Amino acid sequence: MREDLLKKYNVPVPRYTSYPPANYFGNTFSEEDYREAIDLSNQSKPEHLSFYFHIPFCRHLCHYCGCNSYPMAKQEIIEQYTAALHQEIEMVIPRLAPGRKIAQIHFGGGTPTILPPAELQRLVEHLLTRFEMIPEAEIAIECHPGYLTEETWMALHKAGFNRLSLGIQDFNREVLKTVNRRPSLMPEEEIVSLLHTLGIRVNMDFLYGLPRQTEQSFAASIERAIRMSPDRLVTFSYAHVPWVNKRQLILEKAGLPAGEEKSRMYETARRLLCEAGYQPVGLDHFVRKEDELYTALQNGQLHRNFQGYCTRRTTGQVYAFGVTGISQLSTAYAQNTKDIDIYIEQMKNGRFATIKGYSLNRQEQITREVIETLMCNYTIYWNDLAERLDIPVADLKKETAYEKGRLQEFADDGLIEYDDAHIRMTPEGTLFVRNVAASLDRLMLHSDKSFSKPV
Ligand SMILES: C[S@@+](CC[C@H](N)C(=O)[O-])C[C@H]1O[C@@H](n2cnc3c(N)ncnc32)[C@H](O)[C@@H]1O
Ligand code: SF4
Repeated sequence: MREDLLKKYNVPVPRYTSYPPANYFGNTFSEEDYREAIDLSNQSKPEHLSFYFHIPFCRHLCHYCGCNSYPMAKQEIIEQYTAALHQEIEMVIPRLAPGRKIAQIHFGGGTPTILPPAELQRLVEHLLTRFEMIPEAEIAIECHPGYLTEETWMALHKAGFNRLSLGIQDFNREVLKTVNRRPSLMPEEEIVSLLHTLGIRVNMDFLYGLPRQTEQSFAASIERAIRMSPDRLVTFSYAHVPWVNKRQLILEKAGLPAGEEKSRMYETARRLLCEAGYQPVGLDHFVRKEDELYTALQNGQLHRNFQGYCTRRTTGQVYAFGVTGISQLSTAYAQNTKDIDIYIEQMKNGRFATIKGYSLNRQEQITREVIETLMCNYTIYWNDLAERLDIPVADLKKETAYEKGRLQEFADDGLIEYDDAHIRMTPEGTLFVRNVAASLDRLMLHSDKSFSKPV
């Protein structure tokens, strides 16, 4: 990486995991606003439905965890929480147009598999009382292999799940012990082979930058994963934010690897995965060549929501259930309270538990499409996008902060190539895709928010 480029572009810019970024969500967004946004979602695209369930509980908390996870609650609370999820479904689905179809159902956490598979199935079936699914709709769940027996893996298959994300993080026992994570109950090779035999797609999550990890030890874990042939593999960079999660301070005491060692872990993992035939999607996802995410990337049809990457086929507006869940609708984002007691109480009273959100005006809705297209696909073809959004190209550009002089500067620095019809990130430029996206974002012209740096 050229030093001068790093100096110029390694400045705070939004990560654009959503547009507008989550630090724009405000607490004036009310239950009533959420209700209105659900109603409006029937009139706009995408028409497909995507449902997210957040199950926040974990048997043991991993010291590194940055997810919305809570210590295991009493059985009674878990039952009340599950009942509340059903109540929330009952408040949302009568508002959705009956002809719409389900493209995706995702269970995340926390540890969603603390609910028995039959209980998870009941939640899915509740949705199916009203909607059909598209062919090969994705029913996915995040799994902690430390607690799952062969019987449970089989039961998840019987419950209808067709994609499981295994939270591996690392195979190295020393690393897992240091971060307070229980290793897999069954050998991972057996799990993957069982799931593949059952026709279930397998994702694996890895985490680099943890204490006791080295470039070599992490490479050994990735090589072992490659031998198992998961369908997708994600290498998350450990986000150290002890001011949000104090438990992470324990990892500082155990000794976090230096920044350079951490980058080498990623570089080596990436090289090994690419040599084994995996294709990078975004910075941290690796998929097989035949994966629909890779095809979508090649066709400029890749999308992303809070649950991860998806294709145009599986893209839906997201309706989230449970604490901290974020609904991503055509005109708004709405996030539920973090407080489990308040959530249960609100549902009992037939009220939503919205704590904050954001309503997007037309200009922001258009900018969201532009930024998402560039962030996921590293390319914008203005004509294609204008056709999809049903507006003239000139108007589309005007709605954003498009400015030729600014683009020329990126081009002179070798980050993009562009003409009137398209913008494309160069291989060297992809690291700074956030900077180019920010240059198209009118909100960034007068922003008072703080953001992280790209590198
Ligand atoms: C909700 S968690 C996984 C579900 C399940 N509870 C498990 O642990 O297997 C989703 C993923 O987020 C990643 N993750 C958790 N904390 C992180 C952090 N501080 N920085 C980066 N990634 C993190 C982990 O790789 C984890 O598998
Ligand atoms: S990584 Fe998974 S199991 Fe560990 S605390 Fe976070 S959500 Fe819970």
